[in-house]
Amino acid sequence: MKSSKVDVFADHVYRNNIFIEKLDLGFSQFFLKSPTGDTLCIETGMRGDFPLMKSNLLSAGIDVATVNSVIVPHFEADEMGALPDFITLNKNLVAYAHPICSHALADIFSVKTKPLKDEVPITISGEVLVPIFAKHVHQWDALVIYVPRLKALFSSDVFMRYGPVEERPGDPVQEIVASIENSGYLPSIEYLHAALEKIKKYDIEWIFPMHGPAIHNNVAATIDGLIEYCLKDRHKETVEG
Ligand SMILES: [Fe+2]
Ligand SMILES: [Fe+2]
Repeated sequence: MKSSKVDVFADHVYRNNIFIEKLDLGFSQFFLKSPTGDTLCIETGMRGDFPLMKSNLLSAGIDVATVNSVIVPHFEADEMGALPDFITLNKNLVAYAHPICSHALADIFSVKTKPLKDEVPITISGEVLVPIFAKHVHQWDALVIYVPRLKALFSSDVFMRYGPVEERPGDPVQEIVASIENSGYLPSIEYLHAALEKIKKYDIEWIFPMHGPAIHNNVAATIDGLIEYCLKDRHKETVEG
């Protein structure tokens, strides 16, 4: 069973989520209304889900054909799979990604691409964004996106949680740690730690992970709690090793 819906945050962030019961996992795609009235997309979702996403967004007032920019946080089906369908609707579309990922996208999809630079702000479709490279979390070309105007971090697979996308009471850290340990999707806690230390410097009020609920009220505690987990895990490795 699949269920899907669009939620709107801070008036400018539209999140389409497709929840797959069998996996107990949700997949989110984010559409940002910029100050110039443009719409940009972060994470395309999978190709098979494109028609559902398109109609969900249309009901929420967003026509996917008007999207000029797509940001791909890493080269994986849920992050970029539907890119050909975006291009079919808009030939002028530009895809933004880590340099390694942008070469792959240009080669495979014949799409215009622009490589992002680590922690160098860039204006895309009227919105200032800061790409933060998160090497090997969990792909070598991974990055997350910080939007200063909204104090929002689009964290891709960092802070992922199993279960529905609705916010729930309680400490997100335990659920995030359980998701890391159950899925084995992280190649290295050391790289996660490095990414979290980079992320921590930014003034963040919202975290929008691709999988699982948004984090709003306890952002700093969640980042610190995960850093603590990484440090404990590394200590354990040292002691055991
Ligand atoms: Fe991924
Ligand atoms: Fe993912």
